[in-house]
Parts: sequence; C-alpha cells; structure tokens
Amino acid sequence: MFVPDLLQGKRILITGGGTGLGKSMARRFLELGARVAICGRREDVLEETARELAAETTDKTGGAVAWKGLDIRDAEAVERGVGEFWAGGPIDVLVNNAAGNFLARTETLSHRAVDSVLGIVLHGSAYMTLACGRRWIADGRPGTVLSMITTYAWTGSAYVVPSAMGKAGVLALTRSLAVEWGPKGIRLNAIAPGPFPTKGAWDRLVPEGQADLWESRNPLGRVGEHRELTNLAAYMVSDQAGFMNGEVVTLDGGEWLAGAGQFNWASQLSEEDWAAMAPGKKGKG
Ligand code: HXC
Repeated sequence: MFVPDLLQGKRILITGGGTGLGKSMARRFLELGARVAICGRREDVLEETARELAAETTDKTGGAVAWKGLDIRDAEAVERGVGEFWAGGPIDVLVNNAAGNFLARTETLSHRAVDSVLGIVLHGSAYMTLACGRRWIADGRPGTVLSMITTYAWTGSAYVVPSAMGKAGVLALTRSLAVEWGPKGIRLNAIAPGPFPTKGAWDRLVPEGQADLWESRNPLGRVGEHRELTNLAAYMVSDQAGFMNGEVVTLDGGEWLAGAGQFNWASQLSEEDWAAMAPGKKGKG
C-alpha cells in the first residue's frame, strides 16, 4: 500500500512494543524503513521481540531493533529511559501504545486497581509525551506523537471505567498539545481502534468462549486485522500526514456507531415487520 521507504530515516519509539498492537506496529514501521525502539515492563519479552523483528526485516534494520525495560508509570524511569534512547540519536516519533485494562464491576475495584490502570494509560502517556516533547522543543526539532485510545474515550464504557477515564485524558492531552505545540512543529494524533484481537487484551477483556461477540456486534461482521491498523498508523506518523494534527481516527468497522444510533435496533426487524411498516399499512390492523 505504501512506497517501501515511507518511513526511511525516522526513529520511532513504541511503548508496549514487545507484544500485541505495539509489536505489529513495530514490524510495519521497520518494513517501511524506520528505525524502531521498543519499551515495556518485561525485558525477556522485549529482547525476544527485538530479535524476531530484526531477523524478519534485516535488510532494513541491519539486524538491530533497540529495546529497553521501562515501566512508564515511573516518571523518573521514563526520564532516564527516554534520555538513554535519545543518546542513540533523536527520536522523531513517539507511539503511546502501552495500556492496562481489565473487565470488572466498578464497585469492586480497589484504589490500587484504579491507580494501576490510570498509571499506565494516563500518567504513563503523559510522562512519555512530556519527555519527548521537552527534547524536541529544546532542540528545535519537529516531532510526532501517535496515541492509541479507544472509542469509549468519548462515549465512556461500563466495566472498564479506569481505562475509559485514562483514554479520555489521553484524547484531551492530544487535542490540547496539538494546539500548544503545533507552532513548534510537533503533531499529536490518536487512533481509536475497535476490536483488534491481541492476547493481552483478550485475556483480560473477553470472557471464556465469548470471543465471537466481537464479530456479531460489528456492522462489518468481523474484527480488525493488525495490518489494517498498522497501515493507518504508518500513514499518520509519516510526513505524508504533515497537516493532520489533533485528530482522532476511528478504525472499528462502525462498531461504536452501531451501539449509538437511536434506530439501529431496526436491523433486527424481519421482512414481515418491514411489510407491516410499509406506507399505508400501519394502523390499518
Ligand atoms: C479487579 C484487578 C483485576 C481484575 C488486577 N486487579 N486485575 N481487580 N479485576 N481483573 C487489581 C489487583 O488486584 C491489584 O489491586 C491492582 O489491580 C493492580 O494489579 P497488579 O496485578 O498488581 O498490577 P500489575 O501487575 O501492575 O498489572 C497491571 C494491570 C494488568 C493493568 C492490572 O492487567 C496489566 O499488566 N495489563 C497490561 C496489558 C493490558 O491490560 N492490555 C489490554 C489493554 S486493552 P490490589 O488492591 O489487589 O492490590 C485496552 C483497550 C481496550 O486498553 C479495547 C478493546 C477493544
């Protein structure tokens, strides 16, 4: 879909890059010529992912993908870690991908459960964005931030309340800084993915044996393919999207609108129901 050097020369740092969507984005960015750095909490996972991706894309990477163990909930560790990544050459793009979430009845949550999710999603994304933004501004360099949010950042959602609070905050961060930092050449955008199956999310969010509920409730009758998301992300972080700033692009097959439209229930009506609704039929019972 893209010219193979779309991201040539770009250095892209992806939080939560060892698994799931972060790993898929890392792979796609590498294919398109970027140099990629990944961070996450588990060093063994990062090391294995870096090795695997470098081997797959060795013609682009020369066999190297940078990685670092980093818990983005820890502001000092973020400052240190981003400084160390930067020492290998300035980062051009930050992808706030790391997230924490689980399905739970909200009244059962401990304060540690709330803090745990908000620490990753809201605070972690803010720390990472500030650590990169300060450096871009100090060096007079342009930069781009792409954050993974969700459609419930604006609708809210039952049973994932800390995540909804955190993602709403990241959307506010994105839109606020798009204006504040736009004049400095820094673009901030977000993607709101619908269901793109990953082990991390599905283990925590989908009850056993109920994975197909995602297909049945989606207007397109399926879940997303990682490639569909990674191609959008590649475009949004590339210079081709240079005028996109403060935007959130929904990529969910129409899922959230299906839950929102007042008359969407009418897709359940039978042929007989429609026949009964035909002009002149109603009320002649
Ligand atoms: C209730 C829970 C819980 C659950 C954890 N807690 N899981 N409470 N129900 N299912 C509570 C714990 O009991 C503890 O509180 C507190 O949360 C912290 O839990 P820990 O396991 O000690 O924390 P930690 O090891 O740091 O793990 C963080 C985590 C975990 C957020 C809880 O789920 C995680 O690491 N997630 C990362 C990956 C992830 O979530 N990916 C999915 C993102 S999907 P107490 O009081 O007992 O100490 C996404 C978008 C969704 O964001 C869109 C889908 C379509």
